[in-house]
Order: sequence, then C-alpha cells, then structure tokens
Amino acid sequence: LEITPGEGGLPRLTVISPVSTAEIYLHGAHVTQFTPRGEPPLMFMSRKSHYVDGKPIRGGVPLIFPWFGPNLADPKLPAHGFIRTRAWKLESVTRGEQGAVAVRLTLAPDAQAREIWPREFALAFTVTVGATLEMAMSVTNTGDRPFRFEEAMHTYLAVSDIRNISIDGLAGRTFIDKMDHAAHKTQPSGPFGITGETDRVYLNTPDTVVVTDPAGSSSRGPRMIAVSKQGSASTVVWNPWIAKAAAMADFGDDEWPGMLCIETANAADNALSLEPGQSHTMSATIALL
Ligand code: BG6
Repeated sequence: LEITPGEGGLPRLTVISPVSTAEIYLHGAHVTQFTPRGEPPLMFMSRKSHYVDGKPIRGGVPLIFPWFGPNLADPKLPAHGFIRTRAWKLESVTRGEQGAVAVRLTLAPDAQAREIWPREFALAFTVTVGATLEMAMSVTNTGDRPFRFEEAMHTYLAVSDIRNISIDGLAGRTFIDKMDHAAHKTQPSGPFGITGETDRVYLNTPDTVVVTDPAGSSSRGPRMIAVSKQGSASTVVWNPWIAKAAAMADFGDDEWPGMLCIETANAADNALSLEPGQSHTMSATIALL
C-alpha cells in the first residue's frame, strides 16, 4: 500500500492484493478503480472528472449520505449529501484471508457539516480488495436524538456499450421513475436493457444484480459483473444518455455509452432511522462472474 499524490494532488492509496489492485482517494473515501488481475478495470472513471476540494469525483464509487439526490427541504444544499467531498481519515490497513487487503476510513462531522445537517454521527467505510471488491459503510448515531437518513454507494460500472448490456435481478420490483414524474412502476419479468436516459430508484431489492456485457472482454468470455449486498433495500439504476451527458461539466459528452450506475442504497421509501447509540451497516460486493 502506498499513499501518493493522485490527480489534482489529492492523496490516493494504491492497494495491491495478490489477485487485484484498487485505488482509493481520501477525498470522499472514493474508490476510483478496482482491477482484478488479468482483467480490464471494473470501474468507469470520467476523463472530465474534477479532482478538487469541494467537488465530487465523477466515476468509481462516490459515497452518498445523509440524503440521496437533491435535498428536498433546501435545494441549495449539495446534491447527494456532503460526505463525497470531505477528506476522510485513514484508520487502518490490514491483510486478511488469501492476502485480501482491508482499508478502513472514518469520518466525523466538521463545523460545516453540522451547519447543514445538525446531527452527531460517526461513519466508517471499509474497502476489502481481493478477488472481489467488498465495501461496507456503517453509520452510528452518536448524538442524543434519533435521525433519519438516506445513503448510497454510487457505483459506476464500466461497460463496453450501454446499448448492448442487460440487467438481471430486479424483475417484479417497484421502482420510482425519475424520468416520469417519480411515478411508481413495476419492473417486468426477465432481464432488461437501457435504451435512453434512465434514473430509477428500485425499492425493496435484496437480490444480486448481474450486468451482462456480451461485447465486454473478460478472460472467461462475455463480461458479467455481479453486485450483491446486505443492509441495503434500494438499488439505483442510472445512465445520463446524450443530453444529460452534454449538460454535465464533469462528464465527457461521448462517455455515456461506457458506464452504468448500479447503486447500492437505502433511499426514498427505504430511508433509515437510527436511535441514539444505534448503528447500521450497508455493504456491497462487486464481483466478476
Ligand atoms: C444518480 C441520481 O444517482 O446520480 C441522478 O439518481 C443524478 O438523478 C446522478 O443525476 C448524478 O448525480 P451527481 O450529483 O453526481 O451529478
């Protein structure tokens, strides 16, 4: 493990296990890459990403807390909460089974966080880099009153062409369609593809989601990426498509075919509450099948 200045001079950890490598920025505790040995990288990273204090990194795994999307009570607050732009603290690095490397990072509220979200909390994020990428975020209420929150690991998967992939594991689930006035809809049976701008929060989704990328290269044939999870009731599916990609300053106009967000979350109707002293852990494992 090494900490060196990454893009924009932000401190970056390079994690090397016997079977994979990963990169994590302290800024946002942001995993920007995971590459199993002999395979192409699993994460999409935008070439237009910012790497500066106060702005989120575009691609990889932004962490989202304590609200998902815009803050409904105050739209001037940053979208997706504030932890993706905070400098996290590196707490420990340990080696586990078969040489997997576990990196633990923590975050407590600073004065600015207390101003926009006056709650007392402690966050810990553990990234285990081995044959799979395991990520676990725990939230503890360290204050003296309950609070409600949303959270997500906003994972950007690299795909060869979004127009050819299929997504399995969400059949029959209700989703909030942000492209259609937040209408609640039901996902039909069977796998599905993406044919336009997509922004959906699927509710009550315990199952593993598998993305099949027929033209994606993998040493085992067509690429299949599985996202499995615990402590997460929601799954967000997002691709900006053409117009939204063009409208985002930190995303290349032609990059939209190369990514798909499958986000492990507790959002909207699946928001969580914690009593004083209570903790909740949400975890996700990203694996190449
Ligand atoms: C997704 C949201 O999770 O993130 C979208 O569902 C949003 O609505 C997207 O556009 C990107 O958000 P941001 O704040 O990183 O540009």
